[in-house]
Amino acid sequence: MRTLHLVVSVLFLSTCFAAAQMPSTLTLMPVPAKIQLGAGQLVVDQLFTVALTGAKDARLDTGIPGFLDQLSRQTGMPLNKDSGDSTKATLVIRCENAGRKVQELGEDESYTLEVTAARATLTGPTPLGVLHGLQTLLQLVEPTPAGFAVPVLTIHDEPRFAWRGLLIDVCRHFMPLDVMKRNLDGMAALKLNVLHWHLSDDEGFRVESKKFPKLHEMGSQGQYYTQAEIREFIGYARDRGIRVVPEFEMPGHSRSIVVGYPELASQPGPYPPGRVARDATALDVTQEKTYKFLDKLIGEMAGLFPDSYFHIGGDEVNDKPWNSNPKIQEFIRAHGMKDNRDLQAYFNKSLEKIVSKHGKIMMGWDEVLHPDLPKTVVVQSWRGQESLATAAKEGYRGLLSNGYYLDLMWPAARHYAVDPMSGAAATLTPEEAKRILGGEACMWAEYITPETIDSRVWPRLAAIAERFWSPPDVKDPQSMYLRLDEVSWRLGWLGLTHESNYVPMLHRLAGTEDIRALRVLADAVEPTKDYTRSEVFPQPPVKTVPMNRLSDAARPESAVARRFAELVGTYIESGYKDSAAEAQIRAWCVKWQGNHPTVKPLLERSFLLTEDQPLSEDLATLSATGLQALDAIGKNQSLPEAWRAEQLAVVQRSMQPRANVVVMVAPSIQKLIEAASPQTASHP
Ligand code: ACM
Repeated sequence: MRTLHLVVSVLFLSTCFAAAQMPSTLTLMPVPAKIQLGAGQLVVDQLFTVALTGAKDARLDTGIPGFLDQLSRQTGMPLNKDSGDSTKATLVIRCENAGRKVQELGEDESYTLEVTAARATLTGPTPLGVLHGLQTLLQLVEPTPAGFAVPVLTIHDEPRFAWRGLLIDVCRHFMPLDVMKRNLDGMAALKLNVLHWHLSDDEGFRVESKKFPKLHEMGSQGQYYTQAEIREFIGYARDRGIRVVPEFEMPGHSRSIVVGYPELASQPGPYPPGRVARDATALDVTQEKTYKFLDKLIGEMAGLFPDSYFHIGGDEVNDKPWNSNPKIQEFIRAHGMKDNRDLQAYFNKSLEKIVSKHGKIMMGWDEVLHPDLPKTVVVQSWRGQESLATAAKEGYRGLLSNGYYLDLMWPAARHYAVDPMSGAAATLTPEEAKRILGGEACMWAEYITPETIDSRVWPRLAAIAERFWSPPDVKDPQSMYLRLDEVSWRLGWLGLTHESNYVPMLHRLAGTEDIRALRVLADAVEPTKDYTRSEVFPQPPVKTVPMNRLSDAARPESAVARRFAELVGTYIESGYKDSAAEAQIRAWCVKWQGNHPTVKPLLERSFLLTEDQPLSEDLATLSATGLQALDAIGKNQSLPEAWRAEQLAVVQRSMQPRANVVVMVAPSIQKLIEAASPQTASHP
């Protein structure tokens, strides 16, 4: 922390900042392209009014009152929503042009925000820029000795990438519209502009179809959105500058389609509703009736979803149903194809004609890449950055999702370090590089529920949003975390539950009022990562598996473990001289060591917690080890190799998933162990 203050005071010698060195007094996220900080502030009090000049757009008619509501919520002050006189208003907005009827990829999203001590002026060439500028202004309002205020400054801002998305899977677990809407509010706050709605998969078909009602009637377990709900939701997204791109999975991940329409499957079935045999289904893409069906279905859905882009999935096609159907294998031979991949390419080519006939641009996951794939298709890379660069070289436009999978439970900094233009993409020519439209974070829903989704999306998505919006030199993880912590509580004002559900979930686990000791444990652990979660409950069906354990309450990235790691890093880097850091490390270890006897009765009394006892024991053991290490380092002693081996075994065990949880402070204790017992040079 000390080094940080130094950085801040150096920066304050100047008032004009390149984006990468935004003044640390500002907690803006994403960091704007250009900021010039002045002196003084604009007070935001109950006389605050807004005047709109320039072009009219319905999004501003809802966006401006929405902004005032949010400002009221943030400040706790009732505000006047009548539009102000543009010569006197506190905030004067000038929107230069009305927007497109349907929001388009690549519309100008820039804005300029000028704040003086007398007023703020927000100018945008389109309503989208104005909406983004309003979000920036909301982040700038802070309490000061003179009241709520915004610092005097000028911001010129625009996004780095035109496509800044979040995928939400509503198939593995259905997400009601209120959950979807609050996540749209969060996206708008972070200037994300595409919701990729994963609407069909093996586990469910989540849209009402009037042409093929057995899709939602038999393939959704009764959990789907009506067409009226979808229209309303798309309007809600539009008002926030967000496009909605639907995804319907084909030819794999398609079990929910063949439940009602088994004649489309490659195997006769049966496919009883409500049960899931994952990935075991593929559409029969050799028969004419499949294309007739898809033509009608895509036509219906193209009418429902106004966006120009239409995602057909295309990933992870399971070969088995094609291999074991002699008619399909004969079709492959008769058409001179080599294999199933060629068959999928044949399907994609036919599908692209259907999608474009209905006025849409087709998108697919990177498995769709094939020499026969039409160049208009947008390729979404989930298997690696390589495929994005390959696609761009071959003339396709693409999006990066590899590196942005929120369900892998990575820390924000790891996602933040992934850049759509890095890796193989760094070798692209400027022409090829232009084909990379941006990226999308993915929230797959195997292990989330409406109760836990926000804590899996937020606040980490804010770091990814910054990667997509801010200039590429904005990449300091320490600065990112300072701002992420601030953005996180602000997101709570939008009704997001990533913070607010935590304590109630701990109460449920313990079944008691005093959960302080459980919280100490929960704060120090994280859910297991990289798809190592094992289901301890019977399945299928997936949707009835309760998500009510410590692994569900625990945050994907423990702020306590992160700060502890920073302290240990500071202490080691100081050559063990930073006594303030040492004292804090010691205090944490004492707390964790003493926590086990207190939390033990809670863990014993609830069936939801008994599985967590070994974790708490190991946290206490690790803490005792940490204290021993600090003592040894303080006395300049080296602890024996046998001690080191024994303690490192506990570290190893703590990082192995148990009850789907890892003790996230273990890697920091490992550093202390290694410092207290350095490996002696081996003798030849
Ligand atoms: C994917 O994760 N199979 C797109």
